[in-house]
Amino acid sequence: MSTFVTTATLRALKQNGEKIACLTSYDSSFTHLIEDAGVEVVLVGDSLGMVVQGQDSTLPVTLDDMCYHAACVARAGHTALRVVDMPFMSYADTRQALESAARLMREGGAHLVKLEGGQIVADAVRALTAHGIPVCAHLGLIPQSVNQLGGYRVQGRDAAAAQQLLDDARLLEDAGASAVVLECVPTALAKEITAAINIPTIGIGAGPYCDGQVLVLYDMLGIVPGKRPKFTRDFLAGADGIPQALQAYVAAVKDGSFPAPEHSFD
Ligand code: KIV
Repeated sequence: MSTFVTTATLRALKQNGEKIACLTSYDSSFTHLIEDAGVEVVLVGDSLGMVVQGQDSTLPVTLDDMCYHAACVARAGHTALRVVDMPFMSYADTRQALESAARLMREGGAHLVKLEGGQIVADAVRALTAHGIPVCAHLGLIPQSVNQLGGYRVQGRDAAAAQQLLDDARLLEDAGASAVVLECVPTALAKEITAAINIPTIGIGAGPYCDGQVLVLYDMLGIVPGKRPKFTRDFLAGADGIPQALQAYVAAVKDGSFPAPEHSFD
């Protein structure tokens, strides 16, 4: 890909029914390879706390950590849209959200910031977008709330929880969000949310009907200590190398063969 991806590009891809390929990245070298493979969205995820820092959750990740890794990614980034996670408790109120996002943009070269939650973050999303800071929302399994959720489990399985997620997606779109990540929600619910809103949905463990897919880079390269999460696939297995594995991921997202039913939840 040679052109520069923007939020307008993502909206156009949704309207044209072309799937959006997204991967996490935390450094410059991988960002070069990821962009060369044609990935449209690079997410500097706070998953770096687990896959890079060896923490057992994303909660210890700081704003300094995010600025550092985002800047590493930005130095290599030329074509993809760069989304950077707002870490745990860096957007507890609107003022703090604005200050944290400003750092991620100034120091980390973020194009969009991503924050987790539904109604509770709607005011922050409104304030950020009003100040020219595009936002990606994140619903479903929101890892920064793992202690409240009682573990990393599928969300939205009963009717009330499903309705809440649908309402939250609509609310965040109205608040100005440019995209929403849906993590670990049943395929049928992700399909319904995707049809109900005009902004792109990017799924992880949310089935094949989302407008795009995201995986943690280390997961899709099979660098997974212990049990592989159901929603991931090792694209390096059977590939000639990392560039080929990244190209296989993009191709599988684009042609809809990933995620398959075995990577999705009912
Ligand atoms: O931090 C991250 O990598 C994420 C993805 C799992 C969506 O938020």
